[in-house]
Amino acid sequence: MTDQYAVIGNPIGHTKSPLIHGLFAEETRQDMAYAAIEGPLEPEQAFADVVRAFAASGGKGMNVTAPFKLKAFAMADERSERAELAGAVNAMKFENGRVIAENFDGIGLVRDIEVNLGLKMAGKRVLILGAGGAVRGALLPFLAARPVEMIIVNRDVVKGKALVAQIGACDSLKACGYGDLETMGRFDLVVNATSASLTGDLPPVPPSVFSPDGAAYELAYGKRLTPFLRLARNAGVSMIADGVGMLVEQAAEAFDWWRGVRPATRAVIDRLTVPLE
Ligand code: ATR
Repeated sequence: MTDQYAVIGNPIGHTKSPLIHGLFAEETRQDMAYAAIEGPLEPEQAFADVVRAFAASGGKGMNVTAPFKLKAFAMADERSERAELAGAVNAMKFENGRVIAENFDGIGLVRDIEVNLGLKMAGKRVLILGAGGAVRGALLPFLAARPVEMIIVNRDVVKGKALVAQIGACDSLKACGYGDLETMGRFDLVVNATSASLTGDLPPVPPSVFSPDGAAYELAYGKRLTPFLRLARNAGVSMIADGVGMLVEQAAEAFDWWRGVRPATRAVIDRLTVPLE
């Protein structure tokens, strides 16, 4: 029987996951189907009911997108360390009546930066804008890539510091406010993980943080040249990228986890890329 998978979110109309996993399945010759499910926002337990019903009907796994990443976390029977730290889940596997939860967003981002863009983070200075769910998901994979210094900058500095404290002893990781950046020099990689680009806003980051030899990465996908990427380009940064590669790489991680085979990502990224200009 064809194995059943799905992505669940609300709204779900614009999801690229069925296309991505469909291409992966074709390439790796896996007998699987992948649907998009609009999950219920209310009542409280309705989301978990839909997930359990999908699993009970033979579903093997699910991706989870907004606004259900926290609810997926709460209902899981087992969670990976990455999911624990993120406090959020973006992929689930159903085995023997149990819901096993993962978060591949951060590892997908690191893979896109290190493998696709070719920027190895070891020994580099990394600046991350934001301290929300997206950053929580990325922290462990980023630290595992061994940057010499990693700074989390957030408008709400207390939130950034709380995130750093949660990681525990780690000399290379610090949190600060935007006002502190002027004196901190250049970074090899600046990642915009705030939600500012979704509303066309620009975080108050000074152009002095950018290094022309470095890279600027916008987590949002398909928004073309956002104010953040424009600022980076005007500061002379030649390597600028949005989150399309991360989207495809996190999907590849989930696919490998579910199917035990790693799909190639390049052609899928190319197919989904919206040119920045
Ligand atoms: P997500 O889960 O997508 O990360 P979130 O948890 O609501 O969403 O976090 C959004 C992040 O974007 C926060 O770090 C927020 O900063 P504050 O914590 O200081 O509010 C950041 N953010 C949103 N709009 C921003 C803007 N215009 N400039 C700078 N940071 C912004």
